[in-house]
Amino acid sequence: MICLKTLPEKGTSGYHGKCLERLFGDKEVDLDLPENRKDLVSKMPKQTKGFSISGVQMKCQMAIEDKKLKLVDHNGQFIMKPSPEEYANVAENEHATLTLMDRIGFDVPPCGLLRLQDDHLVFIIRRYDRDFETGMKAHQEDAMQALGITNEDASNKYTSASYEEVLKMVIKEAGMAVAMELLLRLVFSYAVGNDDHHLKNISFYHDPMFRLTPCYDVLASSLYSSASENPMALPFFEDREALPSYYGNMGNGFYAGSDFIELGVRAGLLEAAVRKRISQLLRKVARLAPAAIHDSYMPDEMKEKYVNLVRQRLTFLDVLDYTNPKPTREGSR
Ligand SMILES: Nc1ncnc2c1ncn2[C@@H]1O[C@H](COP(=O)(O)OP(=O)(O)OP(=O)(O)O)[C@@H](O)[C@H]1O
Ligand SMILES: [Mg+2]
Ligand SMILES: [Zn+2]
Repeated sequence: MICLKTLPEKGTSGYHGKCLERLFGDKEVDLDLPENRKDLVSKMPKQTKGFSISGVQMKCQMAIEDKKLKLVDHNGQFIMKPSPEEYANVAENEHATLTLMDRIGFDVPPCGLLRLQDDHLVFIIRRYDRDFETGMKAHQEDAMQALGITNEDASNKYTSASYEEVLKMVIKEAGMAVAMELLLRLVFSYAVGNDDHHLKNISFYHDPMFRLTPCYDVLASSLYSSASENPMALPFFEDREALPSYYGNMGNGFYAGSDFIELGVRAGLLEAAVRKRISQLLRKVARLAPAAIHDSYMPDEMKEKYVNLVRQRLTFLDVLDYTNPKPTREGSR
């Protein structure tokens, strides 16, 4: 329930010793967990002052004390997210998606699933903004803060900036390579149907230099939303009227790979490099996604939907060379 690879027949803990060590720093950690989801939620500390993890989904911090994994209200080493009551298997979905990202080579903190006594699974991820051994804090800032936008309205995380503006800021603060990495994370999000890649799901460290934090909050959320909803959380361009060419002209609701190339180029990245990195990424997703989804703990029906979604998204992303249809003579007269 960490690496999603097969277990030896014997020892049915659900984990490889090595994986327990990677996530919890100790393969003998005591994972004595509550009875069921309700029980777990009732034990979760109320929103306490020291609780600095915000977001929409219910979540809480955990730490290992005396070799036992416990719920804590501050200084946690982990963040634990049960699936929201109204969306089943979000935990399994996030685990599968981040495991796929890790296999592809993105920077992902160690994460896994915890099994409650009634077999319900919850998601757990190691905090990347705390040193695991010393608890030392690393300061992180999300894209809204980095752009100097205030958080007075919760919808600001969707409306107050475009991907182009974030990428431009990253090029200015950190350079092309970091911006390219962010662009690839956006392409990945589209490939797996993560329609919630908003300004608070992009974060940066400042010390010792400006760079992206590891990935978090990536899952196939489109599996839960209706087809008419925008598949990407933010507008692409600074000029909100302008839509990427394929998306804007075809009007079929899908983005092509060429739209992401256009985004990268408008932000200031070099076209040849963007093109090359996006195609490499798409090949990796095509090669690695089916197995990661299949090996995951999502129910079979959800796996099938997920595999089909990725296949469909890849079909559109593979269109890397869309050019605007030339206006007809009639139209241009
Ligand atoms: N592994 C991690 N280590 C450190 N900080 C994290 C980690 N995962 C998430 N965070 C921080 O906690 C915040 C909330 O986490 P996350 O985005 O997973 O929750 P969410 O409720 O699903 O968010 P949303 O508002 O997007 O629905 C993030 O914006 C990020 O700042
Ligand atoms: Mg989030
Ligand atoms: Zn393992």
